[in-house]
Amino acid sequence: MAGVRWMSFRVMVIQLHDSLLLLLLLLAAGAQAQQAVAPATKTDPIEAAALNAVFAKLGQTADSSWNTSDDPCTGSATATATDGTDIGVNPGIECDCSDRNNTLCHITKLKIYAMNAAGQIPQELRNLTRLTHLNLSKNLLQGPMPSFIGELTDMQQMTFGINNLSGPIPKELGNLTNLISLSFGSNNFNGSLPSELGNLAKLEQLYIDSAGLSGAVPSSFSKLTRMKILWASDNNFTGQIPYYIGSWNLTDL
Ligand SMILES: *[C@@H]1O[C@H](CO)[C@@H](O)[C@H](O)[C@H]1NC(C)=O
Ligand SMILES: *[C@@H]1O[C@H](CO)[C@@H](O)[C@H](O)[C@H]1NC(C)=O
Ligand SMILES: *[C@@H]1O[C@H](CO)[C@@H](O)[C@H](O)[C@H]1NC(C)=O
Ligand SMILES: *[C@@H]1O[C@H](CO)[C@@H](O)[C@H](O)[C@H]1NC(C)=O
Ligand SMILES: *[C@@H]1O[C@H](CO)[C@@H](O)[C@H](O)[C@H]1NC(C)=O
Ligand SMILES: *[C@@H]1O[C@H](CO)[C@@H](O)[C@H](O)[C@H]1NC(C)=O
Ligand SMILES: *[C@@H]1O[C@H](CO)[C@@H](O)[C@H](O)[C@H]1NC(C)=O
Ligand SMILES: *[C@@H]1O[C@H](CO)[C@@H](O)[C@H](O)[C@H]1NC(C)=O
Ligand SMILES: *[C@@H]1O[C@H](CO)[C@@H](O)[C@H](O)[C@H]1NC(C)=O
Repeated sequence: MAGVRWMSFRVMVIQLHDSLLLLLLLLAAGAQAQQAVAPATKTDPIEAAALNAVFAKLGQTADSSWNTSDDPCTGSATATATDGTDIGVNPGIECDCSDRNNTLCHITKLKIYAMNAAGQIPQELRNLTRLTHLNLSKNLLQGPMPSFIGELTDMQQMTFGINNLSGPIPKELGNLTNLISLSFGSNNFNGSLPSELGNLAKLEQLYIDSAGLSGAVPSSFSKLTRMKILWASDNNFTGQIPYYIGSWNLTDL
């Protein structure tokens, strides 16, 4: 009797063991299938924190579907415009999630356009090191253009146009050698154009009209041979219009 009881107990244990194993196998298969369908991506936490801080400082509130606190690159903040040239939402971001085998997202584009964003350009912008596009145009930004902007060396298109920024144009902008388009027109800067801007060899568009600038156009600008569009009116530039702009690629002056 005792032996039979023992045997049936053993069978029960084996059955339990088998179904546990089956469950584990099923779970493992499920996890693998999920991984194959959609590898989990995650916004770089430093960039996510920086984005939140920038938003908070500029008085921007994001929709709850944005996932701002946790994982902004997964939420509705990211939308490419239908023609692919701009960000589809405003304020908005775009991310590149191809890092570390498509598991890590970096914020590559940021737009806060005509949103009454007020205050100084936030320090935290410094941590959005992968930005290629920055559009802070048509807001109420004041104070200086910080020199750390010159550290964001992936930048291709950057505009601070139509704000109330003041002080000098930082010479560090000359480090942004991937820039194709740069705009800081319609502000209250002062001083002259830094000669370092002549290092922006890829620059095709420069909008610096009504920027508050004075002084001579630096001779280093002779190197900006790809320049197509230059808006520079309503400043107090002195001296002659440089002869070398004849060898630029201008279509709009
Ligand atoms: C927000 O992030 C979490 C965690 O990454 C994700 O599971 C969820 O789908 C995201 N929400 C939206 C609206 O994308
Ligand atoms: C990316 O995936 C490939 C193939 O699965 C692997 O060989 C490689 O080590 C992975 N790289 C990283 C950075 O995880
Ligand atoms: C940038 O990120 C680093 C690392 O998380 C952090 O220590 C630092 O405070 C951040 N800088 C700013 C200006 O937010
Ligand atoms: C900034 O965003 C506005 C609104 O989408 C757009 O019209 C403008 O062209 C953008 N500026 C740049 C330099 O991308
Ligand atoms: C622009 O900024 C200056 C300080 O630099 C301030 O005195 C002025 O009121 C601001 N103008 C507007 C329209 O906000
Ligand atoms: C950026 O530019 C400044 C001034 O033009 C220069 O002193 C500095 O070394 C540059 N930084 C880098 C990282 O190239
Ligand atoms: C720019 O303006 C500031 C503040 O008004 C002033 O201190 C500085 O001397 C000015 N710089 C130039 C080059 O005019
Ligand atoms: C340009 O010079 C004129 C005359 O000296 C002065 O009244 C004006 O404020 C200056 N404007 C700028 C943008 O520096
Ligand atoms: C000038 O512009 C034309 C037409 O956009 C382009 O094909 C050419 O490569 C440009 N040249 C330079 C030096 O950028």
